[in-house]
Amino acid sequence: ISQYVLEDIRASRISDVAIVLGNVHAERVREHYGDGSNFGVRITYVEQGEPRGIAHAIGLCSEFIGNERFVVYLGDNLLKGGMKKFVQRFDSEESLDALVLLTAVKEPQRFGVARFDEKGTLVELIEKPKVPPSNYAIAGVYFFTPLIFDAIKRLKPSWRGELEITEAIQILLNEGNNVAYDFIEGWWKDTGSAEDIIEANRLVLD
Ligand code: G1P
Repeated sequence: ISQYVLEDIRASRISDVAIVLGNVHAERVREHYGDGSNFGVRITYVEQGEPRGIAHAIGLCSEFIGNERFVVYLGDNLLKGGMKKFVQRFDSEESLDALVLLTAVKEPQRFGVARFDEKGTLVELIEKPKVPPSNYAIAGVYFFTPLIFDAIKRLKPSWRGELEITEAIQILLNEGNNVAYDFIEGWWKDTGSAEDIIEANRLVLD
């Protein structure tokens, strides 16, 4: 799946990639991707070790990112249409502080979910809500400026013991920053379970 992710990154004309390594077969990931030259990108490795959340992983990349606008792509996400047009949007709309991608799902309680006001403005992002305020899930492709690092520093671990990126984006929203959203066309798959992997395989073969 991460091979598709790398193809999408390349197609979006992004050449510098940091891979955050967890504690499961990290050395095999390094062996496979190397310095990235076989995949047309330059790869830097950042070690997270124990899983402490997506926001924690992003925080570890602040030196790598420096002052750039950047994309976070969860390695288990598959996006049929790719992210290129969203990269172009985020690049050209300099007033955006963050951009999240949403898609309608059957089981929103498994994801981060968006709440809108009556004008359609994004007002809240809730991680795995028991009572989802909409059926729009946040996909695992996020666009940020370095502003996010300051929000991440202020997070406390959630009920699942992780620093939640959803909560960091909520801080940006609460503080009046420009957090935009866009909708994904075509299928999107978070391959979080064995059934999801089989379904992803079917979608790709199709
Ligand atoms: C994570 C995020 C969630 C998002 C999902 C997309 O969930 O926390 O907000 O909707 O990725 O793949 P996790 O995979 O950690 O359960």
